Amino acid sequence: MQKKGVIILGIESSCDDTSAAVLHDGCLLSNVLANQEVHRVYGGVIPELASRAHQQNIIPVVQRALELAEVSVEAIDAIAFTRGPGLLGSLLVGTSFAKGLSISTGKPLVEVNHLQGHILSHFIDVPEKQLPHPAFPFLCLLVSGGHTQIIVVNSPLQFEIIGNTTDDAAGEAFDKCAKVMSLPYPGGPVIDKLAAEGNPLAFRFAKPRVGGLNYSFSGLKTSFLYFLRDRLAEDADFIAKNKTDLCASLQHTIIDILLGNLISAVEQTGICEVAIAGGVSANSGLRNRMIAERDKRGWNVYIPEFRFTTDNAAMIAITGHYKFLEGLTASMDVVPMTRSAQ
Ligand code: KG4
Ligand code: ZN
Repeated sequence: MQKKGVIILGIESSCDDTSAAVLHDGCLLSNVLANQEVHRVYGGVIPELASRAHQQNIIPVVQRALELAEVSVEAIDAIAFTRGPGLLGSLLVGTSFAKGLSISTGKPLVEVNHLQGHILSHFIDVPEKQLPHPAFPFLCLLVSGGHTQIIVVNSPLQFEIIGNTTDDAAGEAFDKCAKVMSLPYPGGPVIDKLAAEGNPLAFRFAKPRVGGLNYSFSGLKTSFLYFLRDRLAEDADFIAKNKTDLCASLQHTIIDILLGNLISAVEQTGICEVAIAGGVSANSGLRNRMIAERDKRGWNVYIPEFRFTTDNAAMIAITGHYKFLEGLTASMDVVPMTRSAQ
């Protein structure tokens, strides 16, 4: 179909989700996702298996995204792809595919930072309803499996990280504690579900504090591990008997830690536009707490739709859209960046 305006094909392959999306002037036409079930039995992502699965998935996923969008490859204006951070083998599949498509079609490439993608997921429009967009400047609590950051977002392409984790990410804390309880991977959504049935004040765990607006989650994981070790020595069925209370208390602690610094960030910056993004922003406890803080403190709160919380290509396409409008295209010698700054 011939469409006026800017059409961006987005490709995401940084970890264990292969995804492709098409946006027309920032509005979502398609967002296709292939999850990789292969990692579940290992209790975590196996990089080699992830890149192999991306290889198998990438062509059908991109084809399907174009079909659903009713857009031919000739009609797209640019190909946006995740350059990093992420797993090298996984990033290489998306990057190489994007380059190949660019060479064969003559369409420009736009490299996208995955974290920027999570933040800008708040600017994806959808045809069926009006989604609220934060006003600039806003604060974004970015919480995923690999990152926990508080960011001042001044414009789509200009932001400043004012808080960061010094060790584990919030998603990692969920996943590692879930593993200790022998819950399936990824643990975050499982804990979320079990927590709904439990008492968040049943148990108390350490809330490590580091300087400024930074976070630390490795101490919480250790405190959780030692707590369980001691209780299991008294009662071998302790986890089974207290699963929902353990999940609710752990989730409550993680959310308390996250909100503690976020509240300080609002006080320090005076910015009351507050968004959450990343896989952990799917957590129902965190979403409810953000609404409670909005009502208590008069913040304007922005919570992404579930489909835009965990990794997806629509967020890569919207970032590509803004960069393309600024003429920020990439050259053919662009290579993946596994970490944020290299
Ligand atoms: O953003 P994402 O898909 O990938 C990264 O960029 O890391 O985030 C994945 C993380 C995992 O740690 C997963 O356990 C967590 O997000 N997660 C959740 C929930 N859904 C996903 N954590 C808590 N509650 C959830 N409902
Ligand atoms: Zn992510």
